[in-house]
Amino acid sequence: MPKGKLFNLSADILQKVGWTAEGLSEKSRKLVITNEEARLKFIITKTADVPTYVEHGAADIGIIGKDVIVESEKNVYELLDLGFAKCHLMMAVPKDKKRARLEDYAHTRVATKFPRIAENFFVSRGMQMEYIKLNGSIELGPIVGLSESIVDIVETGTTLRENNLEEIVSIMDSTARLIANRVSYKLNYQRIDNLVTDLEKILKS
Ligand code: PRP
Repeated sequence: MPKGKLFNLSADILQKVGWTAEGLSEKSRKLVITNEEARLKFIITKTADVPTYVEHGAADIGIIGKDVIVESEKNVYELLDLGFAKCHLMMAVPKDKKRARLEDYAHTRVATKFPRIAENFFVSRGMQMEYIKLNGSIELGPIVGLSESIVDIVETGTTLRENNLEEIVSIMDSTARLIANRVSYKLNYQRIDNLVTDLEKILKS
């Protein structure tokens, strides 16, 4: 289970299919919460670490955004698009310093939490950039002169607006996904497949 914005949405949908445990809350300081009767163990971790736990089999399955999966480059099996946590990854710049073309930003600094996705994108456009990795409040980068642009997530657009930034190009769409460890998926096929079927029913309804 990822902490942050995704936690409640993930807990809600899992609860609807009967996957829950007493005390399962983002506020819990307990990192592993067990439901013995249902043979479930929930691990609560930082968003960016979810693919790591799943790739290594420390967690059999996980819920995480497509953006984080792609950035992590972890070898996990993507089982289901859960549809929620809809957002997109884009490049934005200060409104008052907007350049005419995307290529005009070549060789400038870009602040981002997603340096791999950003680099793949700019390389595909033949652009060399300087990447500055930040862990949050990415929008600050151009405001304080740390970078000329940002590559970040937009959900409602409020953060961009409130910081006088403007999207100039969309890079990828993202929603929450159910992922599985490749070996766990084979070993627990029936149980995981039942979960996927139940979740699909909930999503359709
Ligand atoms: C994310 C993202 C943007 C904001 C976008 O940040 O990095 O800052 O949400 O949402 P909006 O378009 O609805 O305004 P988050 O809240 O996860 O915090 P962080 O920047 O500290 O990672």
